Amino acid sequence: MPKLSERFHKIIRFSFRNYSSKTETKPKKDVDPCRTFKIYRFGGILSKEQPKIQSYELDVSTCGKMVLDALIKIKDKDPTLTFRRSCREGICGSCAINLQGMNCLSCITEIPPAKTITILPLPHMYVIRDLVVDMTHFFNGYDSIRPYLVRKNDGAIGKTQLAQSIKDNEKMVGLYECVLCSCCSTSCPSYWWNGRRFLGPATLLHAYRWVIDSRDDDTEQRLYELRDSFKAFKCHTIMNCSLACPKGLHPAKAIMNLKRLISGLDKKPVPEIDPGKFKSGGDSGSGKNKKCCP
Ligand code: SF4
Ligand code: SF4
Ligand code: FES
Repeated sequence: MPKLSERFHKIIRFSFRNYSSKTETKPKKDVDPCRTFKIYRFGGILSKEQPKIQSYELDVSTCGKMVLDALIKIKDKDPTLTFRRSCREGICGSCAINLQGMNCLSCITEIPPAKTITILPLPHMYVIRDLVVDMTHFFNGYDSIRPYLVRKNDGAIGKTQLAQSIKDNEKMVGLYECVLCSCCSTSCPSYWWNGRRFLGPATLLHAYRWVIDSRDDDTEQRLYELRDSFKAFKCHTIMNCSLACPKGLHPAKAIMNLKRLISGLDKKPVPEIDPGKFKSGGDSGSGKNKKCCP
């Protein structure tokens, strides 16, 4: 089953890249650097103005090659334009936007060679102002899966390191790199329509990351909490999320693996080495249900 999905993932990524390169993401040398940026503007709920699309002319040869560089340049001309950004390295996940119909991180996405470039806020999110969307519901969902390591009956927490084999650690590769930008969740039709009860791909990817972590021993409770017809099972494996992820992760595959664990088709592998291996005979049992980050 995973092999099939991996092949499918490669096929859809390949087709998408081919499609995009034929249309607009592949830079062309002879493209006029003077571009029109059509950007969504909204002054907030207290504003008397209706939301609108505002056009800005920009010579992109005067700024860096990423979309965020263009936005910063435009903001120099119009300081009222509002958008989120922080690291400009694709790590903080705060600069997610919808560019030419695709969600992306503006700091690691090159300015497309199209004459007209349309920038909108992330789809199906409440807009606070311009390109800034309300992430409260998204992070409440993330918080609900208890995104931290849980150890029961383990006095070693916070006192000694928890052991993990390289092979067990590799199970989390492709999961812990997620920067919680929400590009995947906001491109998921099921999250659009069932967002109040379906957790969405980003949160479910993290749920799987903590379930599969060999050092976490609250697996049964984590899986039990996801056992309803909405939280995970409203994913229909359409794979929009995996296409949208700017970090090249595969949330749809993580959800598929998670669903197999929830339904009992698969079992969490036994850790290769005992996570409490380095415990130094301290006050065992005193740290019941404590939580900590790895
Ligand atoms: S695979 Fe699931 S989570 Fe991903 S876009 Fe489709 S329905 Fe949404
Ligand atoms: S899985 Fe990818 S798209 Fe989704 S939140 Fe994480 S980094 Fe962003
Ligand atoms: S500014 Fe941090 S990911 Fe883009």
